[in-house]
Amino acid sequence: MQGEVGSTASSWDFEEQISALSMTSLPQSVLAPPEATLSAAPCGPLTGRLQPPGDKSISHRAFILGLLTVGRTEIEGLLEGEDVLHTGRACAALGAKIERQGEGRWSVNGMGLGALLAPRFPLDFGNAGTGSRLMMGVVAGHGITAQFDGDASLRKRPMRRILDPLTLMGAEVLAEAEGGRCPILLKGTPEPLPIEYRTKVASAQVKSAILLAGLNSPGRTVLIEPQANRDHTEKMLAFFGASIVSETFETHGRRISLEGRPELRPGRIIVPADPSSAAFPMVAALLVPGSEIVIEGMMMNPLRTGLLTTLWEMGADIEVLDRRDEGGEEVADLKVRASILRAVEVPAERAPAMIDEYPILAVAAAFATGETRMRGLSELRVKESDRLAAIAAGLAAAGVGCAIEEDDLIVTGRAGDVPGGGLVATHLDHRIAMSFLCLGLAARNPMSVDDERMIATSFPTFKAAMAQLGAVFS
Ligand code: S3P
Repeated sequence: MQGEVGSTASSWDFEEQISALSMTSLPQSVLAPPEATLSAAPCGPLTGRLQPPGDKSISHRAFILGLLTVGRTEIEGLLEGEDVLHTGRACAALGAKIERQGEGRWSVNGMGLGALLAPRFPLDFGNAGTGSRLMMGVVAGHGITAQFDGDASLRKRPMRRILDPLTLMGAEVLAEAEGGRCPILLKGTPEPLPIEYRTKVASAQVKSAILLAGLNSPGRTVLIEPQANRDHTEKMLAFFGASIVSETFETHGRRISLEGRPELRPGRIIVPADPSSAAFPMVAALLVPGSEIVIEGMMMNPLRTGLLTTLWEMGADIEVLDRRDEGGEEVADLKVRASILRAVEVPAERAPAMIDEYPILAVAAAFATGETRMRGLSELRVKESDRLAAIAAGLAAAGVGCAIEEDDLIVTGRAGDVPGGGLVATHLDHRIAMSFLCLGLAARNPMSVDDERMIATSFPTFKAAMAQLGAVFS
């Protein structure tokens, strides 16, 4: 199947843009269809092989860097999830010609730095924090204005952390909802100021927004981050030909320096399997007695494998097979066997390397022996939902003891015997939905989630892939 995402826009008169981007129009994703519950029942051993979908972070960046590069960027293994498709539509609205060549195979004919078109309609990012925040960086660094919006979850997420540095670079926030939230009307600058910026939170989204704005700056953008976190933007910018240097401090954190206005060259991007999606079948296979599965081609970037480290510490039987390099990232196949898990203490410093994996780790901890303490999770409060609260409520619904002490999450493990049988409120959060469905596969009673729709944002094949391994959903 071939098709195009969105259509190209033509440049508009500025005043016309402002009135067209009125803050009153609702994006499609706010007008969501009714909720859809789903249940997972206790099942027999999970067996077989699966390849998780392409990495979400790399997929967003592939579309965006394709837009910013003149010529044809080819992508293989792209995650065809809702979040990434929203980014694709936004890139098309800024002038990229994006075509689907086959399953996971896409091409982007980009406009190039400094040549983006003003979008003719508000950009709807659905549930996607990454897409919206990275594209704010892109718009901020160009002489165009765009309205950013999304679903009820995205409208709750804090954007000041992005808008503050972008404003320092010369962008202007023309309108915003209370507290710096979407819908946001952002006016970019054709001459972004080169800045040196120290990020307060260890966030790859903040870092990437600044770097993407700095890409069109006539000078050098320098960013100092408190803790190293996912480095896909840096690696992909280098791959496209930008001059970017990353130094790791002896204590912790990094200094990243990017030379603006590089000659970007298009290329072929191979997207490895997403460790944040692989996490669900991985933990499910550890928990369902007798299981043995192989997860194929999972990205092993050390800034993304904190869950693996933690599961090994808990006693998980996960064997790494065939480590290899694919498209600039190390990948491997993982053989996962059902295991008896023990509680651990997860240090706060590990959070950036497994920030999206705490909901499923909490499920693993529920089946472990002893009390697991996960430290320093304040960032979980501002994800697709307040994940600390959503995890605690979900565990309570499953009959598992759990407490939140300041920014720590403490789970009282039930040594393999989890009652289950409850209904979990997912709050438009895909990872809460998938985590508690995995819990249902290994609990004494089925577990239900109130809304499965958001799973399509990151793992559209979740149900089918898990069912192929032996999972039972209804
Ligand atoms: C992402 C960064 C992380 C992560 C998100 C994807 C990215 O967010 O939670 O799912 O692709 O840059 P933060 O940077 O806000 O921690």
